[in-house]
Order: sequence, then C-alpha cells, then structure tokens
Amino acid sequence: MARDSKPSKRKANSYVNPSRVQLRRQMVRFAKGTRRGMLVLDAGAGKSPYRRLFKHATYEAADFAQLSTEYAPLDYVCDITDIPVEDGRFDRVVFNQVLEHVPEPAVALAELNRVLKPGGRIFCSVPLFYAEHQQPYDYYRYTQFALKRLFEEAGFEIMRIEWLEGYFATMAYQFGMMHRHLPADLAGVKALGVGRRRAVTVAPTLLFTRWMAGRLQKFYAEADGDWKVTDGGMPKNYVVVARKAAPAT
Ligand SMILES: C[S@@+](CC[C@H](N)C(=O)[O-])C[C@H]1O[C@@H](n2cnc3c(N)ncnc32)[C@H](O)[C@@H]1O
Repeated sequence: MARDSKPSKRKANSYVNPSRVQLRRQMVRFAKGTRRGMLVLDAGAGKSPYRRLFKHATYEAADFAQLSTEYAPLDYVCDITDIPVEDGRFDRVVFNQVLEHVPEPAVALAELNRVLKPGGRIFCSVPLFYAEHQQPYDYYRYTQFALKRLFEEAGFEIMRIEWLEGYFATMAYQFGMMHRHLPADLAGVKALGVGRRRAVTVAPTLLFTRWMAGRLQKFYAEADGDWKVTDGGMPKNYVVVARKAAPAT
C-alpha cells in the first residue's frame, strides 16, 4: 500500500490512501489494548511502521529480509514458519500484509500460535483485492471464510473479522490502477497497436478514461473516509483479530 503523506508535501496528483488511514486507526486501537510491559512480535515487520505505537511495551521485529527493500532493525531474521523463540513468549502479535506472501499459511499461523501466550492476541491485515507485489513472494488472496478456517485450525479463537476499508477504497484503488496503466498520450495509444484509423475513435475514449480515473481515484479515496460501504462490492483488505485459545483444563 502506498503511504499517505502530509497535505502540504503531497504531490499534485497524490491522494490519501484510505487503507493506510484505516490500518493506522486499527493499529492505534490494538496498541491501546496492549498493556505496559507486554511483549509484542511484529511478524514480517518490514520497515516496522507501527513500532512507535508500542513504545509502552517491548517490541520485537521478525522478518526473513529476502527482498531488496529497506528493513528496520530486526530482532529475528527468520522465516515466519520457524521463529527462533520459546513457546508462549509473546502477549501480542502484529501481522500486517504478510499472510499473502507465505507459501504455507497454515504452518505460519501455527507458528504464530505457538509463540503466543495462551490468551495472547494477534492482529492480522491481509489483502483480498490487490495486485501482485513483492514478486515472486506473493502466493494468495483470502476470503473471510478462508481466514476464519485458517485461524481456527491454527488454534485461534476469532474475536473479529472485518473489512479494513469500505468498497469506495477498493474502487479508488482500481481507478488508480486504470490511471497508471492506460496510455497517457497518442504515442501510448499507438504503442497498444491501435491502427491509425481506429485511433481516431479509440484514443479519445482511452485518454478520457485515464483522465477521469485519476479524478475518480481521489474522489472515492476521500469518500471512503466519509462513508464506509461494506454491504456490497469487496474489501481491499480484511482484518482479523484473534486470541490463542487457552488449553482445555
Ligand atoms: C508487504 S510487506 C509488509 C511489511 C510490514 N508488515 C508492513 O505492514 O509495512 C511483507 C513483509 O513480509 C516479509 N515476508 C514475506 N514472506 C516472509 C516469510 N516467509 N517469513 C518472514 N517474513 C516474510 C517481507 O520481507 C516483507 O517485509
């Protein structure tokens, strides 16, 4: 997900990414539910964007660090399916935008369950509608039913599964892709292989669609902040909050 920036520094055609806004809100809420001194694992932490929200707790970051991008300081450089810590070490696990990158999601969730204390909580966000990214480490997209099943089979009790953003955010994302990938000028239209005669009718449609998509992206991104539509369409991301079931006595 692209990050939102301060309005004064925003480029003319940039926009507020509703997914980032909503995820930050959710992370603030999850961090508030994390008591002072608790031990938190950020699994697949990347640049650790939410580290500061857990200043009152002890935050540790794990990632396999296989991409050519920047990583925040990592406490554990490891695969998520094999974290070198004892059972039941953590009170909380943050697991944002990683599950789609793991070839064996059931194994990863079982490992995260292992490293959590009984009653410990996991916060997971994961895309349903999002382009392939971080290739070749991009394997799956999940429906809410797949998530429920995977988490429960790994030993979690679901506390909530919900849309991260509303459908308008999904539309904004789709319009953004249209704006990025449609031809920006006549040379771009020609590059599609459109012959000179057809270009007369096709080019205005393509160029207008691209122009309109740029505006609609902004409109729907902002609209998602005002009206979170969740009764139709599809979410860009799901959020799962779950707790490790206590052992039966
Ligand atoms: C889309 S990024 C998300 C990073 C961070 N959680 C965030 O919200 O900004 C996915 C991260 O998962 C990590 N990752 C992917 N597969 C992994 C695996 N099998 N084990 C550990 N980390 C993995 C990548 O290195 C990357 O940092």
